[in-house]
Amino acid sequence: MAPFLNSKAPHVNGIISGILIMTIGLMSIKSGESSEMPSTFGRIQSNCRKHSAFITEYGGVGDGVTSNTEAFQSAVDNLSQLAAEDGGAVLIVPAGRWLTGSFNLTSHFTLYLDEDAVLLASQDESEWPALPPLPSYGRGRDAPSGRVASLIFGTDLTDVVITGANGTIDGQGDYWWNKFKKGELQLTRPYLIELMFSDHVQIFNLTLLNSPSWNVHPVYCSNVIIKGLTILAPTNSPNTDGINPDSCTNVRIEDCFIVSGDDCIAVKSGWDEYGIQFGMPTQQLLIRRITCISPDSATIALGSEMSGGIRDVRAEDITAIHTESGVRIKTAPGRGAYVRDIFVRRMNLQTMKYVFWMTGNYGSHPDDGYDPRALPIIDGINYSDVTAENVTMAANLAGIDGDKFTGICISNVSIALAEKAKKVQWNCTDIQGVTSNVTPPACNLLPEGDADCPFPDDRLPIEDVQLKTCPSFIRSTDSTPNKFQM
Ligand SMILES: *[C@@H]1O[C@H](CO)[C@@H](O)[C@H](O)[C@H]1NC(C)=O
Ligand SMILES: *[C@@H]1O[C@H](CO)[C@@H](O)[C@H](O)[C@H]1NC(C)=O
Ligand SMILES: *[C@@H]1O[C@H](CO)[C@@H](O)[C@H](O)[C@H]1NC(C)=O
Ligand SMILES: *[C@@H]1O[C@H](CO)[C@@H](O)[C@H](O)[C@H]1NC(C)=O
Ligand SMILES: *[C@@H]1O[C@H](CO)[C@@H](O)[C@H](O)[C@H]1NC(C)=O
Ligand SMILES: *[C@@H]1O[C@H](CO)[C@@H](O)[C@H](O)[C@H]1NC(C)=O
Ligand SMILES: *[C@@H]1O[C@H](CO)[C@@H](O)[C@H](O)[C@H]1NC(C)=O
Ligand SMILES: *[C@@H]1O[C@H](CO)[C@@H](O)[C@H](O)[C@H]1NC(C)=O
Repeated sequence: MAPFLNSKAPHVNGIISGILIMTIGLMSIKSGESSEMPSTFGRIQSNCRKHSAFITEYGGVGDGVTSNTEAFQSAVDNLSQLAAEDGGAVLIVPAGRWLTGSFNLTSHFTLYLDEDAVLLASQDESEWPALPPLPSYGRGRDAPSGRVASLIFGTDLTDVVITGANGTIDGQGDYWWNKFKKGELQLTRPYLIELMFSDHVQIFNLTLLNSPSWNVHPVYCSNVIIKGLTILAPTNSPNTDGINPDSCTNVRIEDCFIVSGDDCIAVKSGWDEYGIQFGMPTQQLLIRRITCISPDSATIALGSEMSGGIRDVRAEDITAIHTESGVRIKTAPGRGAYVRDIFVRRMNLQTMKYVFWMTGNYGSHPDDGYDPRALPIIDGINYSDVTAENVTMAANLAGIDGDKFTGICISNVSIALAEKAKKVQWNCTDIQGVTSNVTPPACNLLPEGDADCPFPDDRLPIEDVQLKTCPSFIRSTDSTPNKFQM
C-alpha cells in the first residue's frame, strides 16, 4: 500500500478528493555538530513544506500520451513564490504515466512522485530547450555547440528535494542512444536530473530508468544527499553513468542499486583547460552501500574529467557484480589538477576484469587547446579490506612517464582468480606506494610492508545531515470527510 494515498482515489474535475496523508522527507540538523559547517546550515531546519499541490491542478494528464511539460513548468512557476516566501511547497505527482519534456525546479521545493507515478521523458525534441556548454567543460560531451537541458533541471537553487515512494522517472533513452550511435546528435544528450550551482539538494527513494545519458548530475553544488535510488539502464546503453558528482562539495551518496552501460558512479570536476580555469574541485564526498553492475565500466571512477581536482573521497561497503573494475582513476596529460586523499574500504567484488585500475593516458580532450604539460598529481590513494572473486587481473596501474602516481597504499586484499586469469596479475608502471597482506602478491613498485592504509576517523559535515520522514500532514481538497481515508 502506498504510504500516503490511495492511488485509486478518483480524480474529480482534476482534483483528487478525500483525505491524503503523506510523508515527505526533510532535512534536519543534529544539534551540537555545527561548528565546522557552512553557516547556511543553520537556516534550514526543515523542508517539510507548508504548501502542496497536485500536478492535476495545473492541467496535468497522466495518460502517457498527453504532454505535461507546460503543466509541470506552470506548477513550479506558480508554486515558486509560495515556496520562497511562505514555508516551501511540494508538487505531488500521483499514480499515472506523465509524459513530459524538460522543466525547471525552484527553491524550497519538493517534487514528489507517488509509488505508481511514472515521469515519461518525451521523445519530441521541441520539448527540450538547449543550454550552453558547462563552463568547466568548454563544450558539450557529445557535440561541441551545447547541450539539451536535463529532464528535471535547476540552477542557482537552494533547498531542493526530488523524492517519492519509489516513483519512477523513465528517460525513454533509446531515441537518444540511436541518434548517438548514428552520429546524428547536434547537441549533447540530456541527463535525467541535473542541478547546477545549488545548495542543499536531496534526491532519494526513486527509480530511474533508461536515461538518455548520465542519470544524476549535481554540478557546482554543495550539501547534497543522494540516497535510495534504483538506477537501471541496459548494460550496452551509451554513457548511462549512474551518479556523477561534478565540482561539488560535501556530498553523500548511499544505498543505491545501479545497473548501467557506463560507470555506476563517476566523480568529476571539469575538462582540461576549461576545468583548470574554472578550478572547482569535488571534495568531501562520501559513497557507501552501493551495489553496481556494469560489465564495461567502473564501480567508482575518478575522472576522466578531473581538471578542477578531486580530493577527500571516502567510499565504503561497495558491492559490484560483473563489473569491469572496482575503483578506476582516469586521467591524462592536459588534465592538470589532482586526485588526492582517496580512501576506499570494504569492497566485495564478483566477476571483474581489474580490481584496481589507474589509467594515465586516458586521452579524450575537449579540443586542441589543452596544455600537454599540465600534468595531474595523483597522490594519497588508500585502499583496504577488499575481497574479489573470479578476477582476470588484480591491478593495472599505469602512471604517467615523468609524473609518477604516488602514495598508493593497498592493504588486506584477497583476490581469487578466474579460470582464464592473466599471467601477470599486477601490471605497474610509473607508480609508487606500498602494500600489505595482499594476494596475489603485488608488483615490485608496491613493496610489501606493514601499512594498514587508514581510513579517516573524522566525519564529513554531510554525515550529520539526516533525511527524516516529516510528520504526516493531511491535505483535504474538498469537504467530504474521510471518504478515502486509509
Ligand atoms: C525511503 O524509502 C525507505 C525504504 O522504503 C523508507 O524506509 C524510508 O523511510 C524512505 N525515506 C524517506 C525519507 O521517506
Ligand atoms: C497560481 O497561484 C495563484 C496565487 O498563488 C493562485 O491564486 C492561482 O489559483 C494559481 N493558479 C493555478 C492554476 O493554480
Ligand atoms: C530553465 O532554466 C534555463 C537556465 O536558466 C533557462 O534557459 C530556461 O529558459 C528555463 N526554462 C523555463 C521554462 O523557464
Ligand atoms: C523500487 O523499485 C525498483 C524497481 O521496481 C525495485 O527494484 C526496488 O526494489 C524498489 N525499491 C524499494 C525500496 O522498494
Ligand atoms: C580484512 O578484510 C576483510 C574483509 O574483506 C575483513 O573481514 C577483515 O576484518 C579485514 N582484516 C583486518 C585485519 O582488518
Ligand atoms: C567468471 O567470469 C567469467 C568472465 O570472465 C564469466 O563468464 C563467468 O560466468 C564467471 N563465473 C562465475 C562463477 O561467476
Ligand atoms: C601493462 O601496462 C603497460 C603499460 O601501461 C601496457 O602497455 C600493457 O598492455 C599492460 N599489460 C597488460 C597485460 O595489461
Ligand atoms: C595512506 O596510508 C599511508 C600508509 O598507512 C599513510 O601514511 C597515508 O597518510 C595514507 N594516506 C592518506 C591520504 O591519508
